[in-house]
Amino acid sequence: MIQSASAIPHVVSASHLSDAGSRFVNPVRILTLATLLSLIGIGEGVAGADLLEQARQQFKPIPTSAPEIKNNPSNPDKVTLGKMLFFDPRLSASHLISCNTCHNVGMGGDDNLETSVGHGWAKGPRNAPTAFNAVFNVAQFWDGRAEDLKAQAKGPVQAGVEMNNKPEQVEKSLRSIPEYVAQFGKAFPGEKEPVSFDNMAKAIEVFEATLITPNARFDQFLGGKREALTDEEQKGLALFMEKGCSSCHNGVNMGGQDYYPFGVVEKPGAEILPPGDQGRFAVTKTANDSYVFRAAPLRNIALTGPYFHSGKVWSLEQAVAIMGQSQLGQKLTDPEVKSITAFLTTLTGDQPKVEYPILPASTGSTPKPVTMTSEAK
Ligand code: HEC
Ligand code: HEC
Repeated sequence: MIQSASAIPHVVSASHLSDAGSRFVNPVRILTLATLLSLIGIGEGVAGADLLEQARQQFKPIPTSAPEIKNNPSNPDKVTLGKMLFFDPRLSASHLISCNTCHNVGMGGDDNLETSVGHGWAKGPRNAPTAFNAVFNVAQFWDGRAEDLKAQAKGPVQAGVEMNNKPEQVEKSLRSIPEYVAQFGKAFPGEKEPVSFDNMAKAIEVFEATLITPNARFDQFLGGKREALTDEEQKGLALFMEKGCSSCHNGVNMGGQDYYPFGVVEKPGAEILPPGDQGRFAVTKTANDSYVFRAAPLRNIALTGPYFHSGKVWSLEQAVAIMGQSQLGQKLTDPEVKSITAFLTTLTGDQPKVEYPILPASTGSTPKPVTMTSEAK
């Protein structure tokens, strides 16, 4: 669904917030409220309770356990298998590139490169988004072209610039390794042919659903612990809502739910928005969708730079300033940019602790790796 700028919900302004207080003309009451506010250390006339209430209406904390996936029930054997596959470079033709190469679980779930490097050392066209909390996105990829994580997982295995493999070849590799055959059997009990490309994707999907990052300081705040955010960060949160960032970046993942033009008000320059990548237009072939991208999820954003689908922006402050200009038509002041950025750093949650899996050895019948040349395909 596309939303034009005019469809963005009206944004509650700061003056709006204090309206509620001024309806009470009793000066004693106002004084009491002011004293109370200064006592609990919240300045700028924004009442802590109001800020928390307002935030609770727009954002939800990351749950503490992995969500269930429709039509793909989880079980411990499936999660174990999914983890092995996520880390197994033999899903790639070269036997060198695993999901974890570009979605490094020790680095915020991405590769921190401008754009990813895949098979043949070819540089791909887009920045890798984090695999953490991806389960909460309405659809996968910057342009939403995969409907869920299962559909998504089949993409990179086959993509020429990523793992460059073929489904039959992947199945052949997995079937050549007895430990994998046994693990697929346990993960998909009662199935006639459990080792399949489809089941590979299903197992990876349930593993990815465990890659969630609860307990961010912002989530503690949403849970009622106001002191989890500093004054500066609370100011940033208030600005994030007042300025209108949260009209696109909201919900559990602070984004990942809807599509908007990059440059609702003002297109960023070609350096940041390369003309060759028209985003959702390639998916829907509708003119309205040119340069439309999914509102990026902002969870763990401090860990996942560089920013934007082009990966051209290395500073989070700069990314915030660009968003103000391009999506809201506002030149944010330096202190505003700093406060919003400070708030965004509170979205870093507990990183998943993943124990590196022991992968079973290849056998004589496992297809040999393809040698990578230095030439990009
Ligand atoms: C060579 C690097 C590379 C490899 C290997 C790779 N990915 Fe990705 N991944 C990317 C890039 C780049 C994107 C964004 C592509 C786009 O939007 O067009 C992406 C997107 C994703 C997304 C979507 C996240 C979101 O918010 O939309 C998920 C989930 C994901 N990859 C999981 C995986 C899994 C699972 C594997 C292994 C089967 C894998 N990736 C292998 C680079 C890689
Ligand atoms: C009209 C919707 C909209 C509004 C309003 C908006 N954004 Fe965005 N935001 C997006 C979209 C779409 C993207 C993805 C852009 C791209 O293609 O790289 C994005 C990307 C980002 C990114 C980069 C994420 C990443 O992983 O690289 C940050 C940071 C961000 N927005 C912060 C903000 C802030 C702060 C505000 C308010 C000043 C804001 N946004 C306002 C839609 C919006």
